[in-house]
Amino acid sequence: MKLTCIGAGYVGGPTMAMIAKKCPDITVTVVDINAERIAAWQSDLLPIYEPGLKEVVEEARGRNLFFSTDVDTAIAEADIIFVCVNTPTKTFGHGAGKASDLQYLEKTARQILANSTSDKIIVEKSTLPVRTAAAMQRILDSGTSNIHFDVLSNPEFLAEGTAIADLEAPDRVLIGGHETERGQKAMEALVNVYAHWVPRENILTTNVWSSELSKLAANAFLAQRVSSINSISALCEATEADVTEVARAIGKDSRIGPKFLNASVGFGGSCFKKDILNLVYLCETYGLTQPAAYWQQVVNMNDYQQERFVGTMIKEMFNTIAGKRIALCGFAFKADTGDTRESPAISIVRQLVAERADVVITDPKALNNAKTDLSDILDYVTFEEDPYKAIDGAHAVGVLTDWECYKTLDYKKAFDSMTKPAFIFDGRNCLDHQALYELGFNVYGVGKSPLSHI
Ligand SMILES: NC(=O)c1ccc[n+]([C@@H]2O[C@H](COP(=O)([O-])OP(=O)(O)OC[C@H]3O[C@@H](n4cnc5c(N)ncnc54)[C@H](O)[C@@H]3O)[C@@H](O)[C@H]2O)c1
Repeated sequence: MKLTCIGAGYVGGPTMAMIAKKCPDITVTVVDINAERIAAWQSDLLPIYEPGLKEVVEEARGRNLFFSTDVDTAIAEADIIFVCVNTPTKTFGHGAGKASDLQYLEKTARQILANSTSDKIIVEKSTLPVRTAAAMQRILDSGTSNIHFDVLSNPEFLAEGTAIADLEAPDRVLIGGHETERGQKAMEALVNVYAHWVPRENILTTNVWSSELSKLAANAFLAQRVSSINSISALCEATEADVTEVARAIGKDSRIGPKFLNASVGFGGSCFKKDILNLVYLCETYGLTQPAAYWQQVVNMNDYQQERFVGTMIKEMFNTIAGKRIALCGFAFKADTGDTRESPAISIVRQLVAERADVVITDPKALNNAKTDLSDILDYVTFEEDPYKAIDGAHAVGVLTDWECYKTLDYKKAFDSMTKPAFIFDGRNCLDHQALYELGFNVYGVGKSPLSHI
């Protein structure tokens, strides 16, 4: 069997590497229009950082895993085509700021149609608005030949930072298909790919629309937990309750569970915001005003949390941060990834720069992406690989990503090199606040009473 994946990004690359590793009998070709990205997948320096990814790629690459820019040939040769192209939020025209921009998906569909000489199964792996498969099918059926395309939905649930573990042992694989005989046969073919390593009971099959909507709903529910605990963190700061204690108390309830209850500067990543906004747009399109407003609030709460974080910094540092050196530890949207898309750090840096702070950013994997994200304000920000150099002379440290290396910094050394009084704002609640306070820091967590010497 030959399998092609269109789109060699954060989803296409790792997912196909895992399929190739687990299915040596299947030839997997990953193609992309971005030649630089493909060259990186072929090299020792992979285009994305993900723990364990390099080992999986190296095991299969050249054996049954190939990377190429020749999209047309890979389409022609494939039995199954995974579509993993980007589906960002639309920035123009109808639905700008909310709806999904489906231009890459549509181009891909047309390219598949133009280059196919045999029947194919098309798998939507990109996250898409519910009922996109119908549009995809219409484009694919607009040809004049007798070639048949079966469109399936197979959304990806991996999380960056733990992608390899998630792919190795997914909570579930979701496959949506049509209830026709052909649709069922196509689903069975895809089930058989995953069944090489995923227990059958963890492979769910549904109708196409449930599958498409389940991905949007899953991201909305996850983000909602973050916004819910962040809303409580604001109340904790006002009442001397401690959000970590509250999260522990509610998370012990087995109906609620402990995960995704860490108060913070908010969620980031390329998916949560875009997928919720897409859900909001869908609700609006169907005239469902209240559901749209309900989900919109999850995004609003996230923006509020970042503004609150900067507000606390300004207030505690004597109502001015102009000219003050602020060292930000972490720019990636979470630990163990270099991905900075929609990272809370982006808006926090912009707010600090607007206050005329002297911002220095450090991150073990994300500095290159940070430079691109901040390309319009590079005159006001500096980048430093070594966290101690970043902190040297700073008035304040802000922790924006929960990288392990920031939990284990020598904070005595850091404190000694800082301007006094020294402040630390832990936007991830990942440091030992009492120990920092005892070193002399004025410590501010999220949803916690300040530990201040002032
Ligand atoms: N990143 C995640 O954690 C994650 C998780 C689950 C689902 N998703 C979804 O998966 C999809 C892809 O996300 P990503 O993070 O991998 O995006 P990405 O931007 O990293 O990768 C997409 C790739 O598709 C390529 N591409 C676009 N048009 C193309 C075309 N016509 N032909 C060939 N290649 C083309 C781009 O060059 C790019 O390299 C999105 O819909 C996203 O919502 C992402």
